[in-house]
Amino acid sequence: YICISWDLLFKLFLYGFFCLTCRWLVNGTEVPLGLDLRFTLVAGNLVISRPESGRDTGSYQCLAINRCGTIISRAANLKFGYLHDFPPDSRSPQTAYEGIGTFLACQPPPHYPALSYRWLLNEFPNFIKKDDGRWFVSQVTGNLYLAKAEPNDTGNYFCFTTINMDISTKSTFSKANQLTCYCGDLRKSAPSIKVRFPAETYALAGHTAQLECFAYGNPVPKLRWKKVDGLMPSKAGSSVAGPTLILPDLSFDDEGVYECEAHNSEGVDVYQGRISVQAQPDWLQVMSDSEVEISSELQWSCVAAGKPRPSIRWLRNGQPLTTQDRVEVNAARLKISNLALEDSGMYQCVAENKHGTIYSTAELRVQVQAPDFRLNPVRKLIPAARGGQVMIECRPRAAPKPSLFWSRGTELLTNSSRVTVTPDGILWITNISRADEGKYTCFAENYLGKANSTGHLSVRDATKITLAPSNADINQGENVTLQCHASHDPTMDLTFTWALNGALLDLEDSTGPYHRIEGKETTGDLLIVNAQLSQAGTYTCAAQTVVDSASVTAKLVVRGPPGPPGGLLVRNVAETSVELRWSRGYDNHSPIGNYVIMGRSSLSSKWKQMRTEPVNIEGNAESAHVIGLVPWMDYEFQVIASNILGSGEPSMPSHTIRTQQLAPSVAPSGLGGGGGDRNELIITWTVTTFADHSSSA
Ligand SMILES: *[C@@H]1O[C@H](CO)[C@@H](O)[C@H](O)[C@H]1NC(C)=O
Ligand SMILES: *[C@@H]1O[C@H](CO)[C@@H](O)[C@H](O)[C@H]1NC(C)=O
Ligand SMILES: *[C@@H]1O[C@H](CO)[C@@H](O)[C@H](O)[C@H]1NC(C)=O
Ligand SMILES: *[C@@H]1O[C@H](CO)[C@@H](O)[C@H](O)[C@H]1NC(C)=O
Ligand SMILES: *[C@@H]1O[C@H](CO)[C@@H](O)[C@H](O)[C@H]1NC(C)=O
Ligand SMILES: *[C@@H]1O[C@H](CO)[C@@H](O)[C@H](O)[C@H]1NC(C)=O
Repeated sequence: YICISWDLLFKLFLYGFFCLTCRWLVNGTEVPLGLDLRFTLVAGNLVISRPESGRDTGSYQCLAINRCGTIISRAANLKFGYLHDFPPDSRSPQTAYEGIGTFLACQPPPHYPALSYRWLLNEFPNFIKKDDGRWFVSQVTGNLYLAKAEPNDTGNYFCFTTINMDISTKSTFSKANQLTCYCGDLRKSAPSIKVRFPAETYALAGHTAQLECFAYGNPVPKLRWKKVDGLMPSKAGSSVAGPTLILPDLSFDDEGVYECEAHNSEGVDVYQGRISVQAQPDWLQVMSDSEVEISSELQWSCVAAGKPRPSIRWLRNGQPLTTQDRVEVNAARLKISNLALEDSGMYQCVAENKHGTIYSTAELRVQVQAPDFRLNPVRKLIPAARGGQVMIECRPRAAPKPSLFWSRGTELLTNSSRVTVTPDGILWITNISRADEGKYTCFAENYLGKANSTGHLSVRDATKITLAPSNADINQGENVTLQCHASHDPTMDLTFTWALNGALLDLEDSTGPYHRIEGKETTGDLLIVNAQLSQAGTYTCAAQTVVDSASVTAKLVVRGPPGPPGGLLVRNVAETSVELRWSRGYDNHSPIGNYVIMGRSSLSSKWKQMRTEPVNIEGNAESAHVIGLVPWMDYEFQVIASNILGSGEPSMPSHTIRTQQLAPSVAPSGLGGGGGDRNELIITWTVTTFADHSSSA
């Protein structure tokens, strides 16, 4: 038996295609299920008993049919593998000359699919070793190549072929090719490439490409592969130094020109060819099941990647769909305007190039319905604030789109200075007064029927801020309270929120700086504890009910130590002094009093305050000299600004500079000596640097 499995079954379960009918097509015509007893259907699978290559070879597709429509599966190609025997005729003997290359042709018998080839010498199982650089068996032609013949190559050679099918393998071998090698003069010869891969190889992304190259020559040529227009992909592994270049798992980066070079002591031969990487179609975008109102428009698009670029076609219930009447098929896009009930069904888009075909399936359900408010009635109670505005929606289910209108009592509502009725049925009323209170009804109607739904508008007092927070000005670390009181309609809840520079504050985090002061419902005071510079800004208090809100803002200034100075530069580097320049940072609302310069040398990682000129650097200064430095020493500096609230963050450290060199001011000390061999005297002393850093030599 050969069974073709049916990969759509799962998808069909998702569609609820339980009561479905299955039919099978071969080459586009229906398989005679029931008439030809060799065909049976088992849970949707087609089973063919006693298959025959003459009758059953073909392209099989499944049609699944239910009340929603019909879909067609991708094609499964049924082919029969075979390998005939080699012809019984004996093969003519061949001669070879010592040191010269030659080949023996395999001439494989008819077969499907591809064969693998080996060669036997004299008797089974004496196979010719593949790793001997002198021999090469082409897996394309099956021929046996010999880079240079040797006297003991004389013998009988048999081409041995094997076929691998899904379920079995089969091997067969040829009649003997008799080879006689004559001893000759052992002249050396430069390489000459005899086995050449195609000038253009098309391979599929994700698959493996194999290129063959083999050369005659004496000594036996060595083979080397390279990529002419880039780096050889590392996936080629050790095959870059052999007759077959293997590139597994191809990607588009592997495309390019490849070169095979054969070289020996006598010379070089090269050959080049191109690998073009192509790809099967792959969906980038597909359509999805849609429920659409009658008379409206459907737009679906399907986009597939692939190389060559896939073409897209569309099917409705398994039949090709083309542009006509209300249907517009434009390659990747399908548009059906003025949808009718009979447009409901199963739709498929099919992307195909020469490497494959893929299908995507979706259901279209065209809806008709009289207006119905059961799922989406008008809100029963609609509170609104006096002076404010309200929006009332009317969204019945209906297909086609109903016409909608609003009434209050018996009065039909139309656009006026305070009332707007939008075409999609939304009623807006602005500047609401007590007189607007009452029942509002939305009427919906299409050709299938009509319905209505009513809500009650209830007018409430507006929310107002009665005590607004005042602007505040505090020092870092202090506490401050921002007040906010409001009045509102007592039938509703009032809530307060606070925002800093537009971002809502978290008042629930008890470890944070923000706290609500508990009190009456109408007070929403905010306490800020241990205020930091980041708490400065514009605070907004909002008092909200379900119908409206009111808000006020106040500014908070937080004074603190100055920010870090910027742009620190070191200039005029001398032996024991440098000049520093910087620019002032933020004063954080309190004038900068003075600056301190810190420095560190390569002798210590700790920052120390440096001696400066002037000694006290005023807050308005932007430069100073650092003095008392050690010559020929690496230094970094930073500047710290202070005000009455303290010292701020230091600036970014300066670049490392090295002070100029200066003759030593202190002579070496501790001169001593003695010992040593004959003809030798050891002298020792201690070096004293400016920094009192000592060593011995
Ligand atoms: C289907 O078409 C292929 C190729 O055209 C052909 O070889 C095969 O015999 C056909 N199969 C059937 C069952 O018609
Ligand atoms: C054939 O001769 C070569 C030297 O010419 C030798 O290296 C090799 O081993 C011989 N092979 C066999 C099978 O005797
Ligand atoms: C009422 O006003 C809205 C918004 O301006 C507009 O869209 C709508 O067409 C108007 N309705 C009528 C009946 O003019
Ligand atoms: C709102 O209505 C009141 C009277 O009900 C009127 O005095 C006021 O001018 C109206 N405001 C606007 C903006 O229309
Ligand atoms: C509103 O709809 C109800 C049924 O839901 C119907 O009984 C009533 O007559 C309708 N009202 C009008 C004014 O059409
Ligand atoms: C700020 O308030 C916290 C908590 O209420 C208190 O512990 C702290 O002492 C206050 N700080 C100042 C400067 O008043």
